[in-house]
Amino acid sequence: MGKLKGMSMEWIDNKLILIDQRYLPLEEIFFECTNYKQAAISIKDMIVRGAPAIGATAAFGMALASFEFDSEDKQNYIKKMQNAKIELSKTRPTAVNLFWALNRMYSLIEDKIENLETKEMSILLEKEAVNIAKEDIEINKAIGLNGGKLLNDGDTVLTHCNAGALATVDYGTALGVIRGAIESGKNIKVYADETRPYLQGARLTVWELMQDGIDTTLISDNMAGWVMNQGKIDAVVVGADRIAANGDTANKIGTYSVAVLAKRHGIPMYIAAPLSTIDMKTKTGEDIPIEERNHDEVRLCHKIKMVMDNVKVFNPSFDVTPNDLITAIITEKGVIKPPFDENLKKLFK
Ligand code: MRU
Repeated sequence: MGKLKGMSMEWIDNKLILIDQRYLPLEEIFFECTNYKQAAISIKDMIVRGAPAIGATAAFGMALASFEFDSEDKQNYIKKMQNAKIELSKTRPTAVNLFWALNRMYSLIEDKIENLETKEMSILLEKEAVNIAKEDIEINKAIGLNGGKLLNDGDTVLTHCNAGALATVDYGTALGVIRGAIESGKNIKVYADETRPYLQGARLTVWELMQDGIDTTLISDNMAGWVMNQGKIDAVVVGADRIAANGDTANKIGTYSVAVLAKRHGIPMYIAAPLSTIDMKTKTGEDIPIEERNHDEVRLCHKIKMVMDNVKVFNPSFDVTPNDLITAIITEKGVIKPPFDENLKKLFK
């Protein structure tokens, strides 16, 4: 029986325990998944969020599905596992890590089912999900090591949304870069955008950075330009939900505005992401599906109604930063610089 413990999730006794991110930082409540439907709900309802954390949760979802269906005959087992994969894949459309993890889990079934019993399949799938989660932590540490070198002692970094331990299994991508730099002995300060409408920056990034004792200042999103203008920011580091083959990058809504501002002020704009976030099948940012979420996220400010009930709302959850606004993409395999189409191709060879 496998075991795994990270900040966002724990796998123990065939259960997935998630810290319920809807309530942070005011309450620390945990959500237990004992079946794959609960894993799907936890992704859809943002109990767990952030591209790599979504991927790992989906992987555990497939392991849970296998434990649910491994008393069936092989034919039924395969059918039910296919349905579980489809249901899990319908939860959120933008973060490619979700599909990456589901494909990795399902291809194991395709490869092994002929020669294994369904119960043996469950053991294998559980092991694979634990591997995905453990690898994620190692990958983030490598991203931290590679990206930490790009920051100078005394730098102040602006980040948007939450690409931290909560958005991964542990350690984080963008916040991993900050952690990596600090662990190498540099003094780094952080400005965190609050990240309307869901407030991942204010609620989650601030919470986890303050727990680590990292000097963090919260600003509202519309302050980023002025803060840059005042010379307070040395680098921007954000995560990604999907990076197209040409380097165009989908990340939390507002990232594009931050990138435009960074360009205007001559500040490097870094994307920190694992290879599983790079989707070489998606040619450019135009092909990335952008999730539109519930309009109440905009009508309400963290559950408090602020506006007329019938106001028209547009709530895209992500935007795409064109590759020409990106200084470099920090991965576990190194720092990728422009031209991204050429250099990403080389990375996957
Ligand atoms: O809607 P969310 O909270 O899932 O969006 C998360 C982000 O946009 C993160 O920046 C991204 O997933 C990278 S997480 C390491």
